[in-house]
Amino acid sequence: THVLVLNGPNLGRLGIREPDVYGAQTFEDLAELCRETGRELGLSVEVRQTDSEAELISWLHEAADGRIPVVLNPAAFTHYSYAVRDAIAQRTAPLVEVHISNPAAREEFRHTSVVAAVATGTIAGFGLQSYVLGLRAIAGAKE
Ligand code: DQA
Repeated sequence: THVLVLNGPNLGRLGIREPDVYGAQTFEDLAELCRETGRELGLSVEVRQTDSEAELISWLHEAADGRIPVVLNPAAFTHYSYAVRDAIAQRTAPLVEVHISNPAAREEFRHTSVVAAVATGTIAGFGLQSYVLGLRAIAGAKE
């Protein structure tokens, strides 16, 4: 099974960006962890990152059209992008929303996810392990 791991704005700056919140590992470390987890689970994992809402939406359309399972960290789009939400709502394959930090334990504006209701489920607060758990959920999900 092919799986897309999609990442929204500022996640390309992992390791540089607020390391107290997001850790010292880089985006390339994250991508390698996801691909390695995929190899263990028998999934072909492709990792992408964009700062552009339009590009993220085009990838979600690609996933919907191809019925491709997705692990998605929508980053700040989580909290306000109805366009990302509407793109996710078109999917039929599983989609796991993941976060590195636990948004519920942070600022008030992070307590709302406008995408959670259209995701299959959400994993947050486990650092980069959130992605590993998300991939495990995809591997175990009934399509
Ligand atoms: C994040 C949490 C969001 O609130 C934030 O805007 C991010 C990263 C996380 O992975 O913890 O960019 O999605």
